Amino acid sequence: MTIPLLSEHAISILRRNDHGGYTVPTHGLYPYQWNWDSAFVALGFAEFDRDRAWVELETLVSGQWDDGMIPQIIFHQDDPGYFPGPAVWATGRTPPTSGITQPPVLASIVRHLWQAEGADPAHPRMRALVAACLKSHRWFHTYRDPLANGLVMVTHNWETGRDNSSEWDEALDRVDTSRVGSYQRRDTAHVDAAMRPTAREYDRYVAILQFGRACGWDHREIADHGPFRMIDVGMSMELLRANRDLLVMVQAIGDSATADELKARIALSEHGVDWLWNEDAGAYCSRDLGTGQSSGLVTNASFLAFYAGVGNAAQHARLIAALGRLTHSARFLLPSLEAGSRAYDHQRYWRGPIWLVVSYMVALGLAETGHQAWADRIRSDSAGLIELSGFYESFSPETGAGSGGPDFSWTAAMWLAWCGKVASP
Ligand code: GLC
Repeated sequence: MTIPLLSEHAISILRRNDHGGYTVPTHGLYPYQWNWDSAFVALGFAEFDRDRAWVELETLVSGQWDDGMIPQIIFHQDDPGYFPGPAVWATGRTPPTSGITQPPVLASIVRHLWQAEGADPAHPRMRALVAACLKSHRWFHTYRDPLANGLVMVTHNWETGRDNSSEWDEALDRVDTSRVGSYQRRDTAHVDAAMRPTAREYDRYVAILQFGRACGWDHREIADHGPFRMIDVGMSMELLRANRDLLVMVQAIGDSATADELKARIALSEHGVDWLWNEDAGAYCSRDLGTGQSSGLVTNASFLAFYAGVGNAAQHARLIAALGRLTHSARFLLPSLEAGSRAYDHQRYWRGPIWLVVSYMVALGLAETGHQAWADRIRSDSAGLIELSGFYESFSPETGAGSGGPDFSWTAAMWLAWCGKVASP
């Protein structure tokens, strides 16, 4: 297909996945609104329907909890084809939502839309979303910063968006599954089980969910005593970037008190991120709060350091060397895990496959920090994957074949807003 035809196809995917105010990631497998999916999807809509882009984000924040959390999933309507659905989460919210969050990329996307509109500080839609982002970032600060160093603790692996990354394996091993009971997965009815987490892993995901439900989704209790407590390198970098983007908007609005609050938080994270640096790996890695151990694993999320704007020259050199290792045997960039790694599987979800939203953020950061050749390679490989296989959820770094669900919203959005653009940063 030619570039204009692929763009038309991408637009038609977003239109078809549009349920009126929110976009499902893909039909069948994911029939609701997902948090960071919607943020990226708005970037795609902004390329051809700006109003619809803002609406996507407004619908997302309509599910924000009173304590500030923007949930991972909003169940706008019930769908028997998904597990765990609203009755399993039982959060008692209207609209029903899950009880956990997802990567805080919203403020970065709002800044992008606002600047595309001409960056008017009086823009009312931008202001309302800025308020929602601020509330959400404060929630992270209150509930998810146990070391008070500006990093992000996750209490469920689903929060990271990198669901079955091998970074979580050891912490998940310690989760007690003896009381999980029986349940029926639905994901493996939609796509090949070889592309999904295993049954053993899924039991652990459900056990963590059950802990949250049993304590009535008390976020303090979950943060202090939950069965899974990890400092996620991905979300720590994403929140730092989001705070920088939020600061730009808050300054434009002229709210100096909030600007000072954000500056302090940014400084804290810039310093705190050292806690994730793993000298042996030469990269930032997720770290388990239960044991204090670094995962030592270099994944695509490690390179979000460039996107967050952290690291000194020596660390950048080591990161680029690690990027060389992550990609040396890959035909397409950017794999989510190194081919030599124990858990690597080129088609199993976050244990190897390429995810364009992470590739986009990494490429943006690489371009901003002077590594243009790497950024270009990631972008052209991303476009090549779509040209070869279509708009899949993720792709094999070895063959370029699509894995997971087809006609995926955020992949279509990444084509329109980034890799399918003839001239792109
Ligand atoms: C999977 C992905 C997650 C995404 C969701 C919906 O759970 O791991 O990142 O948000 O699907 O697409």
